[in-house]
Amino acid sequence: MARLIIDTDPGVDDAIAIAIAALSPGSDLLGVTTVFGNVGLAKTTRNALRLLELCGRADVPVAAGADRPLVHPHARRDSSAHGDDGLSGHAEVLPEPARDVVAGGAVALLASLLERADQPVTIAPIGPLTNIALLLAAYPHLKPKIERLVVMGGAIEGGNVSARAEFNIWSDPEAARRVLVADDVPCVLVPLDLTHRCAVDRAWLEDLAGCGRIGEALHALTPEYVRHYTAALGVPGMVVHDAVAIVEAITPGTLTTESMPLDIECSFGPSRGAVIADRRRLARAGDGASGPADVAVDTDIDQLRALLLDGLRERK
Ligand code: RIB
Ligand code: CA
Repeated sequence: MARLIIDTDPGVDDAIAIAIAALSPGSDLLGVTTVFGNVGLAKTTRNALRLLELCGRADVPVAAGADRPLVHPHARRDSSAHGDDGLSGHAEVLPEPARDVVAGGAVALLASLLERADQPVTIAPIGPLTNIALLLAAYPHLKPKIERLVVMGGAIEGGNVSARAEFNIWSDPEAARRVLVADDVPCVLVPLDLTHRCAVDRAWLEDLAGCGRIGEALHALTPEYVRHYTAALGVPGMVVHDAVAIVEAITPGTLTTESMPLDIECSFGPSRGAVIADRRRLARAGDGASGPADVAVDTDIDQLRALLLDGLRERK
């Protein structure tokens, strides 16, 4: 049973990831913390509360975190692939939450959940890493209570928000460097290189709609996101980046990983926010490079797509 905390910026693919974790018998979802990202913090927080309400998990505490990056302002983008409300403009299909966030904020909730845990906890950051950087800086004594971080982010080749950078890392490169390079918490990085290969098609989306009440509601959140990815992929479909990371967080070993020391480009050039994975550093570890991170490089893609649907199917 994976004791799990999700740090998230819902977000359509976040929504699918949160539902899978909330419904999974294989995970003990201890809490959800929110961060700015796909949309502003108020909307990501509202979306997280509503998604847990949809899944009948109002027992899972939610706390709001950073509404901006650690150091530099969040670069403006024309629009989000997730729509103005973060859920393709259809957040209204989700139930109103019957409760509010817990007081104290995301970092305090992360710390108290780690403090109280009788065994180490997996944290799955699937948005910008600002909350996690703050947690590690303010509560270093709690690091032994973190089993591992399973981070959706980065790209070894290419990017999505720019030629070289992936959105979560680009949104707060300084925080990402703090977490992925300057610290020593065990980390699995799930990059675009793999999540794009796990893209789902129209048939998968139809199966999602047929999974029952929750699948139908999640399907209703996808139109804007599918429109974005159909243009980006060149074929009808969408990329469920965060759900790929969550499946690994719940079931370690679902993804095949390769150990690679990483660095993050924090300068203001065209590669700002890029993840630099240099395999040569394995021979020169310690020259300012991070300790190796485990980068997810492969999986049984058909099996993963089926796992995602199984995780959302209504249980009789
Ligand atoms: O680049 C993909 C990541 O950015 C995903 O987490 C998606 O939700 C967006 O936040
Ligand atoms: Ca996300």
